[in-house]
Amino acid sequence: MPPEVVAHRGASAARPEHTLAAYELALAQGADGVECDVRLTRDGHLVCVHDRRIDRTSGGSGVVSTMTLDQLRRHDFGSRLGGEPAEVLTLEDLLGLVADSGVRLFVETKHPVRFGGEVERRLVDVLSKHRVDAVMMSFSPWAVRRFKALAPDVPTVLLLNRIWPRRLPAFADYAGPGVHLLRRYPDRGAGTYCWTVDDPADVALCVDRGVRFLATNNPARTRGIVGDN
Ligand code: G3P
Ligand code: CA
Repeated sequence: MPPEVVAHRGASAARPEHTLAAYELALAQGADGVECDVRLTRDGHLVCVHDRRIDRTSGGSGVVSTMTLDQLRRHDFGSRLGGEPAEVLTLEDLLGLVADSGVRLFVETKHPVRFGGEVERRLVDVLSKHRVDAVMMSFSPWAVRRFKALAPDVPTVLLLNRIWPRRLPAFADYAGPGVHLLRRYPDRGAGTYCWTVDDPADVALCVDRGVRFLATNNPARTRGIVGDN
């Protein structure tokens, strides 16, 4: 079975990351899943923003967790990355697009410490209102464990960057190695979520190892390499 193609931050090689345009293009290109990062605003909304600050991806400046959703909405998250003007995307907006679409949603929670578990609680709450095939992910084992305790039926990925433990903790359903770890550990990869795979040689490596979910910024090209599943 070829890996499922997951559009990382949407089709972010062609559209500004985490914008509706990036996710619409991913769906149009036939992605099997979409990935997003979420952060909590000061007034408790989950927004799809990768960095702690908005400076790289918007026309504004500031730290997401210290701003309200209304404050974030005053900034353009499309033009700075070369696209059309775009509002900050909330997780609710993204769910509006992918719920009932048959496309899997991979949500990575950021800043696990700052709000002491509120990110995971809020995520469970938002997901419960939509019919969606969701997967929760984090580099933080504490965040994954907290989430699993709240939503045992939602699959989880423990993202891995530096080391790849032989055994996963019970609260993680999948290992989530960076593709650099796949190169370092020649006997591993089957059944994992692997990120972020754009080089065609790395895509071929993932296919060879039996990776289950492959996160890529370029879903159209990656689909061309892995084929339909
Ligand atoms: O899909 C996992 C991957 O997104 C983790 O890295 O920095 O792009 O969030 P990052
Ligand atoms: Ca991510």
